[in-house]
Amino acid sequence: MLKQIQEVAQFIRAFNTPLPTVGIILGTGLGALVNEVTIEVEIPYETIPHFPVSTVESHSGRLILGTLAGKSVLIMQGRFHYYEGYSMQQVTFPVRVMKWLGIQTLLVSNAAGGLNPAFSVSDLMIINDHISLLLPENPLRGQLPAEFGDRFPDMSDPYSPDLIEKALTIADELALPLQQGVYVSVTGPQLETRSEYRLLRQWGADAVGMSTVPEVITAHQMGMQVFGCSVITDLCIPETLEKASLPKILAAAAVAEPKLTALIKRLVGRL
Ligand code: HPA
Repeated sequence: MLKQIQEVAQFIRAFNTPLPTVGIILGTGLGALVNEVTIEVEIPYETIPHFPVSTVESHSGRLILGTLAGKSVLIMQGRFHYYEGYSMQQVTFPVRVMKWLGIQTLLVSNAAGGLNPAFSVSDLMIINDHISLLLPENPLRGQLPAEFGDRFPDMSDPYSPDLIEKALTIADELALPLQQGVYVSVTGPQLETRSEYRLLRQWGADAVGMSTVPEVITAHQMGMQVFGCSVITDLCIPETLEKASLPKILAAAAVAEPKLTALIKRLVGRL
């Protein structure tokens, strides 16, 4: 795997853009941040050696190298999900490439269901902790190169308290309402039953989704500082549950997109 990571890093370096210092993963329906980027290169995933190809239609699947708020960034527009059939090694492969390129900070976003009854559709939730229920596989399982980091990474603070603090300050400045909470990752692709939502809430989760945790664990193992933000696209309250649909989720994400874009842009400026 190390050799493949090095080859992809070399492939990206060959575009001769300034080397990115910040990596950003944009979740379902959250691609608009790209409009704020001075783009140098766009690289479709299918042209990158060893890269998995995104199969979800709502994810456009390209790497973008450019400048945002004065920083060189590498953006993943579209991510890889376990439910698409990829292994956890494939899901987290791009994060390892980021680290190989010298990226020290990873910002991740996702669309998530709101379990906390105080949340509303299109709220932003800063992820301050997570629960990993992507149980069948773990990106750190098996023999990994020593360069990847600790065998048993500490997880007392996977989401950088410093970046959360900065985001809260920015939210104040922009008068942007922000929720904070615990993100629980499930495998999907089916949404959850009412009973599962009840259980996840009782376990202490505020939002539920099908991504993010594998990338965060991997980035954290490799010593990157991580910031995560969920967009609440549907409410998962068992008693009042409505039928979810991808169009509704995308519409809710679209409402939240300008808020997320403003937050991330300012945050990148302060790194
Ligand atoms: N469950 C899991 N993933 C999701 C949900 C949900 O309710 N909403 C958006 N992504």
